[in-house]
Amino acid sequence: MGDADAIAKTLKAEWEARARSENREFYVASHPGWNTAEGRAHQARSDATNFLVHLDPEVLRTSDLLEVGCGSGRRVPYIAPRVQSYTGIDISRTMVEVARRDCHEIANARFFEASGTELPEGARDRRYDIALSVAVFIHNPKHVCDSLARSAMAQLRVGGEFRVQLRADAADPEGITPGSDTATIERAQAVERTATPDQKDLILGTNYYGHPFGYHEAKTWLESLGDAQVYRMDPLFIYGFVKRRA
Ligand SMILES: C[S@@+](CC[C@H](N)C(=O)[O-])C[C@H]1O[C@@H](n2cnc3c(N)ncnc32)[C@H](O)[C@@H]1O
Repeated sequence: MGDADAIAKTLKAEWEARARSENREFYVASHPGWNTAEGRAHQARSDATNFLVHLDPEVLRTSDLLEVGCGSGRRVPYIAPRVQSYTGIDISRTMVEVARRDCHEIANARFFEASGTELPEGARDRRYDIALSVAVFIHNPKHVCDSLARSAMAQLRVGGEFRVQLRADAADPEGITPGSDTATIERAQAVERTATPDQKDLILGTNYYGHPFGYHEAKTWLESLGDAQVYRMDPLFIYGFVKRRA
């Protein structure tokens, strides 16, 4: 068993425990308002719009979309109606079961449990035009990120795009867009004020496994996966948009 497989077993057990806890939705997305249905819906709708930015709605309509680390499926009602098919995979069986239960009326959505290091068999029956992974790689060691990203890239159509959020090394000033706003940091601070001590374990910056990428490290790695655009709007995160090469 390789290193990535060994840590993936630990990650699976820990995410499963979070998925079964009463604070599941906090662990899925720790934003102000996480503990009300309205707050969650508002955030999920706006996240879905943000992550699909600059994609032509007409092109999206015929696109097959993959979400790596879909959690409880909070964004599915706002993504699935805009695409041809939605496939969500997650390391936690309970997350997958909750997503299936809550999205059972969404006919073009399906969900699969994953090992943590690669796409599960069920999700490998088709090629995808777009893959998303948000708030997932930030909780994973680098060798798990690499394994998962290569598996997702391999399942894309040529020209298909993988959009991924990475945890940035906050001490590295490289790549931060001049004049970027501070909304992400303010949001993290607002969550810190409203969370209980046990919930704080998963708050940004108190992350046990997430690999903090330096900007150049992230750029080099993402460019090894495909044709990459790398964005850093604030010190906390790096976003990679990586297109599969021919
Ligand atoms: C913070 S939640 C975010 C969920 C979802 N992306 C969202 O924004 O609503 C992280 C999710 O990723 C899943 N996850 C973490 N590491 C994973 C891995 N290596 N492979 C697949 N899923 C993973 C967890 O089980 C959890 O559901």
